[in-house]
Order: sequence, then structure tokens, then C-alpha cells
Amino acid sequence: MMPSAVPASDQSITDAAKALSQGRLVALPTETVYGLGADGLSEQAVSRIFAVKGRPSDHPLILHVDSAAQAKKLAAHWPQSADRLAEAFWPGPLTLILKRADNVPDAVTGGQDTVGVRVPGHPVALALLHAFSKVGSGVIAAPSANRFGGVSPTRASDVVHGLGAFLEAGVIVLDGGACSVGVESTIVDLSGERPRILRPGGLSRSEIEQVLAGLSTQSTPSSGRGDAAVPRVSGSLESHYAPRARVRLIPPEQIMTAATETLTQQPGVRIGLMPFNHQQLDKDAADRRWVIQSMPDQAKAYAQSLYAVMNDLDRLGIDVLLVASPPQTVEWEAVLDRLRRAATRIDDSPTMGE
Ligand code: TXA
Ligand code: MG
Repeated sequence: MMPSAVPASDQSITDAAKALSQGRLVALPTETVYGLGADGLSEQAVSRIFAVKGRPSDHPLILHVDSAAQAKKLAAHWPQSADRLAEAFWPGPLTLILKRADNVPDAVTGGQDTVGVRVPGHPVALALLHAFSKVGSGVIAAPSANRFGGVSPTRASDVVHGLGAFLEAGVIVLDGGACSVGVESTIVDLSGERPRILRPGGLSRSEIEQVLAGLSTQSTPSSGRGDAAVPRVSGSLESHYAPRARVRLIPPEQIMTAATETLTQQPGVRIGLMPFNHQQLDKDAADRRWVIQSMPDQAKAYAQSLYAVMNDLDRLGIDVLLVASPPQTVEWEAVLDRLRRAATRIDDSPTMGE
């Protein structure tokens, strides 16, 4: 039987905390995306996450806690940069990678000597963490609550549609409404000599740089790419965050031409178009042969709705998704990153085994 989502309430949060303490899974809202949570200090509970997600077991998970004080207990070393960033952005869409403490299970870190920690900003996530700290470890390991490689869920209904068939009967899916950020947390690696951004996300590079600026010349973040010993970040695989439909990024002004061409070349395919709100589409636009979902002109609003739109279009059975490409500016970094990965298919890159 498919699980159904329950509205978050004092009662359902208490029930969810109890389920976690018994080693069971719980799907929970965060401000970025919905997570599939388990007791982060229990090797056995964590192994269930990998089974349900279909994720390779050497891909590490983020540990969620309700305060920086709790996060410190999971790290062997807590640099000054961590204090700064935690103070500025927690609770919020920021994950810090630190040297792991001994109490962190190997199942969480994928055997690496580092651990990812985050204090989420969603009130339901915080309430659950708080409740779980009274009846259990208070540490929730949670990847995005989708099958490995797919589009992350930003609504409880996405979790039920995407993971329902893989969840045991009775698993609690807490409904906390639509996520306000809509893309995953920014991951900053503080375990090396200088901070590195491993995954762009809800916080922009410039917001992070501003906070680290005063520290020392060692502290300006660099991009993770091209580095010799890059830790495994599954969200950094070339193909990820991909809907079922084949995604193509198109210069905005060419989107109608591309739609017409696609239909000429592949009659019968179902086409979805994601132009910007500000675009004046010509009369062809009203054609019933495609579905149009106009997207916000501002980066934050775009990010907030991106996965919901992709999940909706997937459910409509769209085969080809033509997306007007956003400007290549720093505020669009996270959205561009997700769109590019969605546009990369595993079958386009034969070297990718996952
Ligand atoms: O916003 C988010 O971060 C969401 C919500 C639920 O908190 N979580 C999320 O989890 O996106 P997940 O598992 O889908 O992506 C976490 C990323 C993965 O790419 C993983 O490889 C990376 O974080 N990660 C976790 N621990 C790491 C570590 N010790 N070193 C390097 N990367 C790590
Ligand atoms: Mg994910």
C-alpha cells in the first residue's frame, strides 16, 4: 500500500520522532527539498535509506541537527570558518563538510574521514529534530527523498509519487507544504586547507564569500571542480537531478523554433516548454501540441519552483523538455548547475556507470 502524507502537527511530529528512535524511516520537509530521514547514528537505520533510494552505499549522507552545538559533536575539528558560517546561515540551506568525529557511522560517510552537517531552517524539520533529541540521538541522516539520480521532491506529494512504491507500509511522510528554497543546500568543504564549494545551492557563492572574507587569505572558497582529490559528492555526478523527459537548454529567443523543429523531426513526442515569464511568445505558442510552463524571471523564485515544475511535467508524460536557459550570472549558479545536470543523460556519457 502506498503511504500517504500526513500534515505536520505536534502529534505527527511526536510519532515521527518515535519512528526514528525505532530505526524506521521518516520523510520530512526542509526549506531546500524533502528529505528521507533515519537515525543518523544508527548504521542499520541508515542502511535502509540506501535501499529505498537505490543509491550506491559509498555515497555519503548529510547529518541534520537542531543547533551548531550539536553539529560540533559530530566533527573532530571545528575551524573558525565553521563558526562564522554557522552563525551567519544556520538554520539554513548550508551544509558544512568537516573532519568526522568517531561517533559518526561509516555508513553515513561512505567510509570517508569527513562528514556533512546541516541545521535546516524549516520549522517542521527543527521541531522533529528537537523531538527526536528527547527520545533518541537527535541526529537525522537525510538525502533528498527521491530515487537516486532523479528530480528532488519539494512537495510531500512528490515524495509519495516518487518513492511511494519503495517505502514500507506505515512510513510517515510529514507534509510541511512546499519548500521555500526549492534547490538543495550549498555544500562548503571546510576539511581541507581552504574552503571549497562542492555544490552550489540555496546560498549563493557571494553570500558565503562575504562571511569568510574577513578571516584570512586561506579562506576564500574555490570551486570544487578540477581538484585532484575531490570527495565523492553524488550531486556532482554529471548526470543528476534529471527528470524522465529528455531536457534541452535553449537560448530563450529560440525556444519556439526549437519546439517546432523537434515536432517535425519527432512527430508524436510530447513536448514541454519552460520559457521565462517575461518572454512574449508568438502565436504558435498557443498550439495544443505542447505544454507551456512559464518560469519566474528572478533566480530565487525560479529555484523555488524548478523541481515542482519538472515533477509535474514528468507526471504529464512529457518526453522532451525545452528549457529557456537562464543568464550565466552568479545568482543563477545553482539553477544553472541543476539544469545542466538534468540535461546530461547517463546514456549520453558512456563513462558514467551510475
Ligand atoms: O538540501 C539538502 O542538502 C538536502 C536536504 C534534505 O537537507 N539533502 C541533500 O542530500 O541534498 P543528498 O544526499 O541528496 O545530497 C547530499 C550531497 C551528496 O551529493 C553527498 O555526496 C554530499 O552531499 N556529501 C555528504 N557528505 C559528504 C562528505 N563527507 N564529503 C563530500 N560530500 C558529501
Ligand atoms: Mg539528492
